[in-house]
Order: sequence, then structure tokens, then C-alpha cells
Amino acid sequence: MSIIKNAQQIQCMRYAGSLTARVLEAVEPLVQPGVTTLALDQFCHDYIVQHLKAIPGCLGQYDYPYTINTSVNEVVCHGWPSNTPLLEGDIVNIDVTVKAEGYYGDSSITFLVGEVSESARHLVYITQQSLYRAIAMVKPGVKLGDIGASIDEFAQSHGYSVVKEFCGHGIGQQMHEQPDVLHYGVPGQGMMLQEGMTFTIEPMINQGTARIKMHADGWTVTTQDKRLSAQFEHTILVTQTGFEVLTLRDRERKSFASYLDLENKNDAIHFL
Ligand code: MF3
Ligand code: CO
Ligand code: CO
Repeated sequence: MSIIKNAQQIQCMRYAGSLTARVLEAVEPLVQPGVTTLALDQFCHDYIVQHLKAIPGCLGQYDYPYTINTSVNEVVCHGWPSNTPLLEGDIVNIDVTVKAEGYYGDSSITFLVGEVSESARHLVYITQQSLYRAIAMVKPGVKLGDIGASIDEFAQSHGYSVVKEFCGHGIGQQMHEQPDVLHYGVPGQGMMLQEGMTFTIEPMINQGTARIKMHADGWTVTTQDKRLSAQFEHTILVTQTGFEVLTLRDRERKSFASYLDLENKNDAIHFL
């Protein structure tokens, strides 16, 4: 299948993306100390199936048995929902994929659970910022290496490291399509963006070492040094002049717009 979507496919992607955004908006108020990630999973499942009349995209993909990934603290990605309650001070990434009209939307947020340490908040803020900066670069003619390098350099400039083993991806009628969207790279190298491409950018940024540990369950990925890891993800469309964030949430729209205005005036706004 072509990596360039036509107008009708883009309409379906917009719809799937908007539903994905709505799940994250709906689950946000439930992310509080004491809630279990299994309860969050159940909520997202029912919200997608019953309220949005759509399909939980992760459920059954590669035999994954849940609707969302819940990655707490040192978990980098693909954490399984569990019966362990979230604690005040935790950070938790919730990654949601929704299938609707035959197409996928994919997005994630790292939430702060109650009062969180300044250092954890900073990691989460910089991770979101790295995604926003990368999205702002998207337009026809830009190379994937430009985007990857921007994320890696930004993370390193704050003393953090980028996970290299997992990447963003093309997305459409399959959750994972070509191309791979690496969060590091060499400017000027890699595939050139073209109008009509749809892909995710989903940087995972660590406080300490970039090195990860794969656990025996075949899913859970943690940092090797057990320090924190954060992640944000959006599904992006390359337009004629730039980009459209297909999974942008209503409440995020305003802060992202002001971010774009202030981009070169030294990050003045805090989103968190
Ligand atoms: N949503 C994840 C991503 O960003 C994929 C999760 S793998 C699955 O690509 F098996 F859980 F679906
Ligand atoms: Co993804
Ligand atoms: Co995802």
C-alpha cells in the first residue's frame, strides 16, 4: 500500500485521530493516586466500544491482551495494565490506539499522578516539548533525519537521553506501517516527507542512561538504571504547507498554537 494517503483516506484518518484524542481527554480525570491501571484500561475499552462505537486498536495486535499501554515511572513503553494502584508522585504514560472507518489513530500522554517532584515534571515537560518541536518541523521536503536529530539534540541539551530501540511509524489501515520514524538521526538524511504521508512521532526520553531492559514477559521495557522515562505521541499528517496533528486534543489546541507562535522566543509557556 502506498505511504501517501488520498483525500478520502485522510478523512478516515482524521476521524480515527479525533476519537483517539477523545479517549485521552476522557481518561485524564481518572488518573489519580489510588486508581489501578487495569481500571483505566477497562474505562478506555468501554469508552471506545460503547461511547465512540469504535475498535480498541491494540487489543489483539501481536496478541496484546489490553486496550491501552500503561507505562509507570521506569517503564519505557508497552507496560501492561495491572492491579497495582498508582501512587502520588508517579508518572504514567497512557498510550491509546483506536481503529475507526478502517483506519488507526495512535497517541499517548505521560500524566503526572498527584504532586510530582520537580525533576520528574521537568522530564515530562521536556519530552512533550521535544515532540512539539519535532511536529513544528514537519512539511514536504524535510527529511526524517532532520526530525530525529532535533529530538535527540534537544533531549541531550537537557541532560537526558533518547531510547533508540523503539520508534514512531507510518500509520493508516495498519497500526504500524512504513516508514520507521526514528527519534535520532543525521540532518539531511532519511526519507523525504511528502504531502499525504501519515505517521506518528513518539519520543521516549530517559532521565539517565538510554539503555533499556526487555523483560521476560516479552513486553515490559524498563530503563536499565531504573530512572524515569517519559513519552508523548501524536499522529501527524503532512500537508501541502506543513502538518496537521490528527490526534490533537481540544484543550491542547490552544497551548500548541501559542507554542508555535513563541517557538523562537525561548520556550516561555508551560503546558503542565
Ligand atoms: N501504541 C503503541 C505504539 O505507539 C503500540 C503498542 S503495541 C500493541 O506504536 F501491541 F500494544 F499494540
Ligand atoms: Co505508535
Ligand atoms: Co501508541
